[in-house]
Amino acid sequence: MPEADISVLLKEKRIFKPSQKLVSESNVKKWMDKQGIRSYEELMKKSQDTEWFWGEAAKEFVEWYSPPKKVLDWKLPYSNWFVGAKYNIVHDAVDRHAKRHPDKVAYYFEGEPGDRRKMTYKELSDEVCRLANALKKLGLKRGDRVSIYLPMILELPVAMLACAKIGVAHSVVFSGFSSLALADRINDCGARVLITCDTFWRRGKTVALKAAADEAARQAPSIEHVVVVKRTGENIPWTNGRDLSYQDITANESTACETEKMEANDLLYILYTSGTTGKPKGVMQRHGGYAVNIALTLSWVFDLKDNDIWWGAADAGWVTGHSYIVYAPLILGTTSIIYEGAPDWPEADRWWDIIENYKVTVFYTSPTAIRMFMKLGTEWVKKHDLSSLRLLGSVGEPINPEAWIWYQLNIGGGRCQIMDTWWQTETGAFAIAPLPISELKPGSAVRPLPGMAADIYTDEGKRAPAETGGNLVLLSPWPAMLGGLYKNPEKYQETYWAKYPGVYLTGDIGRIDADGYYWVQGRADDVLKVSGHRLSNSELESSLVSHMSVSEAAVIGKPHELKGESIVAFVILKKGIEVSEPLRKELREHVGKEIGKIAMPDEVWFVADLPKTRSGKIMRRVIRKKVIGEPVGDISTLMNPEAVAELDKAK
Ligand code: WTA
Repeated sequence: MPEADISVLLKEKRIFKPSQKLVSESNVKKWMDKQGIRSYEELMKKSQDTEWFWGEAAKEFVEWYSPPKKVLDWKLPYSNWFVGAKYNIVHDAVDRHAKRHPDKVAYYFEGEPGDRRKMTYKELSDEVCRLANALKKLGLKRGDRVSIYLPMILELPVAMLACAKIGVAHSVVFSGFSSLALADRINDCGARVLITCDTFWRRGKTVALKAAADEAARQAPSIEHVVVVKRTGENIPWTNGRDLSYQDITANESTACETEKMEANDLLYILYTSGTTGKPKGVMQRHGGYAVNIALTLSWVFDLKDNDIWWGAADAGWVTGHSYIVYAPLILGTTSIIYEGAPDWPEADRWWDIIENYKVTVFYTSPTAIRMFMKLGTEWVKKHDLSSLRLLGSVGEPINPEAWIWYQLNIGGGRCQIMDTWWQTETGAFAIAPLPISELKPGSAVRPLPGMAADIYTDEGKRAPAETGGNLVLLSPWPAMLGGLYKNPEKYQETYWAKYPGVYLTGDIGRIDADGYYWVQGRADDVLKVSGHRLSNSELESSLVSHMSVSEAAVIGKPHELKGESIVAFVILKKGIEVSEPLRKELREHVGKEIGKIAMPDEVWFVADLPKTRSGKIMRRVIRKKVIGEPVGDISTLMNPEAVAELDKAK
């Protein structure tokens, strides 16, 4: 679409209304009818009775082994949901479907080289049981932790579910993270077993995951065994006794395994996420509330029906995959797609090819991916029939209106509503998002979902007036809210609950417009969003400082056309170390090795000084303003105001 048309659309401030058909057939509308609720407003109002709302939701979406005695026990800042219920999420995600519709496809898998595999609910159940039995033989029991380091292959959901089935908490680490990042996370949770694979495909080459896992295991004394899935069959290093072949240990196991009856608030998983300090935080999710919340949100926002083909094109190493590739779609008994490789491999139409081939009906991706495809041009899209699509979604970072409209027109054929879902690892489930009954404004995540209460607060803790920026907060507990940070209650309190008493601080800034629409603008704290991936400034800085040539470092995010933000590092070298191109390259690669390729700085600048507060804290905000060309404001209170001008001399 020509530029001119886009700007007209933007000026028009167009509102995208859902079709009558979408509204009347939507899952949320049907539920409203059942409850005698007549309008969106009434739904929002009634759902503020948290216990009533989530109590009703639970009846619809989950089956307890024995029912809860109480919907919510709220002892700020800790919530226990569905107290007293006996439950296991695997019952709802796998066991019941394997009995009731065994032959329905749970996952279509496509490998990067084009190999395909399909897994029905019965096959999924068999595979999960075999692995669960094998893990039990390794001595794993309820309450233990297992780390999972796998790419997007079917064994990833299988491994997660097998752990959950026997009451073991999983900690999945994104396969793009380095061995050091993996070792840190294993050591924090004390995992006894690590599940990984030999190698996997990425852009026509294989990635040596087992080799990285070995390096991590060497630094992780809690690991007793490394279970290795054979993905490519390539030769890999092997440690006898410690290493076990996934295929071997599961081959002769029984396809029956009793699902452990857990308490609703027992730990399901730990997922590490970046916060404001260098050390990743272990966000905890529990079986019961999480299941109810993710199932309701997927069913209502993306309106999944029995015959839908759902593709959440994320990686299960991040929360999007945990909630909306693994657990929620399975609870709803949906058929989903899992694709191993790069979006533009071997050519720029790989994703559109997949959508056409599998007749995907609902598709969910990130603004970074949309912007990349926008740049590659519509000719790649036009080669494919995407008429199966009926709804689209976006997640991970703010979506700019241009990308929203491109997506709506070129991928959605002008027919599909775009569900821009705002949420976090900590919220576990969509928190602010449209419903099929919502009118949309491109770039807005619309409103808090039913059962959620949000607002924008000023620094003083007052409600910000309409159209005024401030901190996005959540006001009442919700079932998929984190159960705290693993072994770190102080950090939990300080990060989310210290700024405003009794109110959850998201760390994002945004505003609410005069119509009540939310516009989330980005992070207020020192967290970067690079291609939708969450990284912490200080984690990157500590990695730079760990290099022998570096004395101090500051990392900031700079707006980037495709990736949302790019990583810019300012480095002070140790005395006697010379600035050089090879060193610049070495520093980028050092961070890549320490944290993962996604964390490699796009730019590394050498400086003599960095602006600091009187207490010695590096003022990233000032540096950032300087880099993006905004006025730096009053710098007279800095310890070294002259350092700001020094930035101009960066080499
Ligand atoms: C950002 C990803 C604007 C936000 C699910 C949040 C968004 C952080 C959106 C959480 C959206 C996520 N619009 N910003 N629709 N979705 N974010 O934990 O800054 O990886 O705090 O969870 O992503 O990132 P996380």
